[in-house]
Amino acid sequence: MRLAVLASGYGSNLQAIIDAIEREEIAGQVQVVISDVEDAYALERAKKHGIENLYINPREYKDREAFDRVIVALLLERQIELVVLAGFMRLLSPFFVRKFRGKIINIHPSLLPAFPGLNGVQKALSYGVRVSGVTVHFVDEGLDTGPIILQDSVPVLDDDTEHTLHERIHRVEHRLYPRAIQLFIEQKLRLEGRRCIHIEG
Ligand code: GRF
Repeated sequence: MRLAVLASGYGSNLQAIIDAIEREEIAGQVQVVISDVEDAYALERAKKHGIENLYINPREYKDREAFDRVIVALLLERQIELVVLAGFMRLLSPFFVRKFRGKIINIHPSLLPAFPGLNGVQKALSYGVRVSGVTVHFVDEGLDTGPIILQDSVPVLDDDTEHTLHERIHRVEHRLYPRAIQLFIEQKLRLEGRRCIHIEG
């Protein structure tokens, strides 16, 4: 399957996906990595693995949709079948979601629907939950509101800082995201309203 990864930052989830592909745990290839941040380390990671990597400057476009139209065109040109958001810090426009409906997934560092949006780890920590976690979900027009594919929990420890908790969450993300991608590739996910049913076998 032809994958595209959109990332704004460090790209550790991108790396986990690339590694899982190399171990043949994902039956797909990352065709392109696209970033809205020029010096995102995710672009470096793509480069190192010989993957096409593109920086698109949002400031060159008049609004979110104009920016998204450029990305959608790039994805269509490359016949992308699954768009993987991995730390992509922008809300997709309804135009983008419509064009790839059911083919965009995201990873979020909390147990949704708790703590959506920016700084999910910090929000969970400040709220005082004893258990947080990771959610992989389909992307719809809302902010972290799409049907949930996989979740896993992560305990919050008394001496956690945002950094230590996020580190533990990252380790779970790196395991969960490749699994979710492979479930999608194997067509083992079926939507029943909001519920994402996992087909056995
Ligand atoms: C992850 O924690 C992910 O859940 C969130 O942004 C972070 C990206 O980390 N959406 P990385 O760039 O993949 O290391």
